[in-house]
Amino acid sequence: MKKNVLIPAFFLLSLVYSATNAEDNLAMQVFKGYCWGCHHQTAQAFGPSFKEIANKRKKDEIIAQITDPKDMYKKLGYKRNSMPAFNDLNASQLDAIVTYILSFKDKK
Ligand code: HEC
Repeated sequence: MKKNVLIPAFFLLSLVYSATNAEDNLAMQVFKGYCWGCHHQTAQAFGPSFKEIANKRKKDEIIAQITDPKDMYKKLGYKRNSMPAFNDLNASQLDAIVTYILSFKDKK
């Protein structure tokens, strides 16, 4: 009898697991393909680290900076804008990279 419960449970778990993984992979593609040259996860690079960003920004601000940095950099307190706009990212790519950035927020 137990097997009848265990197999579907295992199947469901592996579905959830692969969905989470797909989101992670998408984030890594965006990160490596577009951001990594200037941002690193926890260390300052040309731009601030994801850890620093996660600790002071909200999702909306991060998206605004990615898609329209010329409009956003002053509001974030920068004197000049050296980051290009990324308008070709679709909604899932944006969501994945923002979730990834925010995952570096310090736990309270
Ligand atoms: C050519 C270098 C460069 C690339 C590539 C780049 N950035 Fe930036 N980024 C910067 C710089 C420099 C700043 C500081 C503000 C500015 O110049 O507009 C910045 C600022 C930011 C900020 C706001 C920082 C804050 O204070 O909150 C976010 C969020 C951000 N970048 C995310 C990204 C993401 C996500 C990607 C990839 C899709 C990316 N950046 C790609 C250089 C870059």
